[in-house]
This record gives sequence, structure tokens and C-alpha cells, in this order.
Amino acid sequence: SASQIGLMGLGTMGSALALNIAEKGYDIAVWNRTTAKTKDFVVEAGDLASRITPCESLEAFVNAIERPRTIILMVPAGAPVDQQIADLEPYLAPDDLIIDAGNANFNDTTRRMRDVKFPFLGVGVSGGEEGARHGPSIMVGGAKENWERVAPILKAIAAKHEGEPCADWMGEAGAGHFVKTVHNGIEYADMQLIAEVYGIMRDGLGLGASEIGDVFDRWNEGVLQSYLIEISGKVAHTEDAASGGPLLDIIEDAAGQKGTGRWTAIEAQHLASIVPVIEAAVAARNMSARRGQRRDLQDVFGAAPQGVDSASIPLDKLEAALICGKILCYSQGFDMIATAFAQNGWDDNLPGIAKVWREGCIIRSGMLDDMATALAEQPGRSLMASPLFADRLKATEGALRHVVVTAMAKGLPIPALSSALAYFDTMRTARGTANMIQGQRDFFGLHGFKRLDDGSENQHGPWASN
Ligand code: 6PG
Repeated sequence: SASQIGLMGLGTMGSALALNIAEKGYDIAVWNRTTAKTKDFVVEAGDLASRITPCESLEAFVNAIERPRTIILMVPAGAPVDQQIADLEPYLAPDDLIIDAGNANFNDTTRRMRDVKFPFLGVGVSGGEEGARHGPSIMVGGAKENWERVAPILKAIAAKHEGEPCADWMGEAGAGHFVKTVHNGIEYADMQLIAEVYGIMRDGLGLGASEIGDVFDRWNEGVLQSYLIEISGKVAHTEDAASGGPLLDIIEDAAGQKGTGRWTAIEAQHLASIVPVIEAAVAARNMSARRGQRRDLQDVFGAAPQGVDSASIPLDKLEAALICGKILCYSQGFDMIATAFAQNGWDDNLPGIAKVWREGCIIRSGMLDDMATALAEQPGRSLMASPLFADRLKATEGALRHVVVTAMAKGLPIPALSSALAYFDTMRTARGTANMIQGQRDFFGLHGFKRLDDGSENQHGPWASN
């Protein structure tokens, strides 16, 4: 019998997704550029092989799928996606649906939505290989009727939060990949905040990797409960067979990146939206990669004093500081989504996005459930202002301030924690300092300013007479 769905691209994510689909009771046709991989895949599928139709040619693949067809592309983002669509085109019928489930740049998705001659969805899938295999978080963008065509299968394979699938329609066009991009920006920021707190424990408090692992394990029982804290604990506890010491201690301190966090920062600039913690996290990855330069500068300036009296940063304060930084960074992410959706004329559903992120994805956490509730209570208002998170910020702001001040006094690098605090201080200050900038702009360029006293616009100073 014909397969209900087809999947192209049997890399790590594609294979895992195909097995997940087969396991949920769907018959699936698969194709890969190299046929050897397709053959291996079916052998490794074991019991699930009976639901899988391996195809060696594109024509055979397309013919194996029942009409109207649904075809998932799981190929590397960028040109390979366009190529794959072009190769498929001659075999498809006008109502066949193509789903790009790779990590596409949402601008490409919006373009494809316009140019591809077939129904098209751009779908963000998060959760790594494990998620793809057993339940990812799925962020769908494109025409709503196309989402409705595939909602049953995508909901079936998605992660569940108390039975509710973490798969939903995010909005028109590139909205699904846009939300995935911001997810990754938040992922970078969350990881960086954790790395900075790790640094404070290691270089400030002098704790060893396994002691730090215990701290993360403990935090994972509280407000910070999340996949990233959980795996940080596991990473810190892992021993290296060769050295007999903690593996973490011998991992090079240079972070890789495939670019989606950077896209978030770039897009934020285009939108004039405010995501300094995410930008700090991207910059921190870039700085981490400059190992030679950092070594050179340490030779020039000497190492920072580091080391703090352990009484001066108690671990519960550090935990509270991380909670505070995390709330601020997620607020920025949700604000960015709201800004982008407004500019694109897409309806936003921030609580729905928070819900889709509760399980399956890399940033899944207990806090996201509360965020979904808080965002639903006050549409259009910052997460920071919601009663629950305002209370949490009030309860933890002092700890963040204390940790930032103490760490900075010792030269411990904390770019994301400190930018979270700077963001908070800037945004909670009603009377800012940009009046000086407006004065300067008017002085050198007659750019005009608005008077606070009578509200008159485009005023100029008497600067010329000075
Ligand atoms: C996910 C991840 C996933 C992947 C990124 C990592 O949601 O499952 O975000 O997309 O892990 O590719 O990105 P970097 O290589 O840029 O760290």
C-alpha cells in the first residue's frame, strides 16, 4: 500500500524523525541522496522496517506516497533545500505539500513560500536527535490550511506536555522558522548564563567539576528545572577515562556554532528589537573562539584577580541570579517575537509558543509552563510585568546585582549576566539619559528634539550662539 508520508534526507535528524513517524503507526517512504544510507537505515530500523518503504530514485519515492502527497525535507539548510525542491518538482502534483523541517533561515522560508509552486510549510524542529526520535517540539509556519493537513501526524510525533502535543501553528510564511530561530537565540543565552555561573563556581568559588555538577543537580529540583540545567549537571559529573579526571576540565574552551543564534541577533537588529542577552551570548561564543588572542592578552595584562570569598557569593544567591537572568533573557525573546510578528502582519500567539517549548526542545523547562500562563494573562505586555514574573524578578534582582558586582570586581567575565542586569536597569528607569544624545544630535546635525515641558516636536537648541 502507498505510504502516508515521505521523508527525504536520512542524516541524523531525518533518520530519527522517520523512525518516530513509523513508530506512531504511519507508513513512510524514505529517500536519501546516497542509496547506501537508505539501505542501512532500513536494516537498522528493525521492527519498524515493515512501515518503511526505502526508495532509490526520486520517481520511485514520489510514486510510493499516497496523494495528495506530504513530503518532509530534512536536508542541510540553504542551497540544498532549493536544489531538492527543484529536483522534486517534475514528479509532483499541484496539491502536493512540501515541508522543510530543517533549520532554515526564516527569510529563505518566506521567500520559498512565495516562489515554490506547491503548498509549502517551514517547520522548526527542536530537540536534537533524541527529540526527533521520541518527541520533538514542532513550530509550524505557512498557510493554516496546510498545517491542518498535517496537524494529526505532527501532533502524533511531537513531545507531549501532560498529554498536550508540543506542535502548533505559529503563523504565516516564515513564522515557524522564525520562532525556531528565536528559540535558538534563547538557547544560546540560556547556555551562556549557565556557563557564566559555572565560571563563577569554578574560578570564583574554587569548586571542582563534580561539586559543580551536584549544584546543578540540586538546582534542577527547583525553579531552574530544565533540560539545560539537567545536562549541565551530567556534563560536569562525567569522568574522562583517559585522564581519570572530569571530562569537562579537558574540553577546549572554544564554543562552536552553526549560526542560528547569530541569525537571532542579526534579525533583532533589523527589527530594532532588544535582545542584549542573546547578543552577549553570541559575542561570548565568538570571544571564546579567539583562544590565541585571549592567551596573548592575558600575557599583556596578567590574569584578572578572580577568586571570591565563598561567603560573598552563597550558592542560593547564585541560583537566584541565574533565575533572574533567565527571566530577563526569555522576556527579550518573547518581545522579539511580538515585534517581528507585528512587523510582518502575522498574528502572534506568545502563550502558544511558550506551550510548544514546554517539552521536546532544547530550552524546555518548568518555567515555560508558568510563562505560558503569564503571557496569556496580559496580552501585549512584557513577561517582566506579569504578576508572577514581576514577583520573581523582585525577589531575585538583588541577587543578580550582588553576583554581577562581586564577579565584576574580581574580573570574572560575565557578559550575559551583566547585560541582563543592564537591560533590567535600563528598562525599569522611566527617565533615561537619551536627552543628552538628542542634545548632541541637535548640536552637530540640527536633528531636532522634543521638549518635555510643552511636548513640542522638532525643537532646536540655541547651540549656534555658543
Ligand atoms: C535544537 C537545537 C538544534 C541544534 C543547533 C545547535 O533546537 O534542537 O537548537 O537546532 O542543536 O544546531 O546550534 P549551534 O551549533 O549553533 O550551537
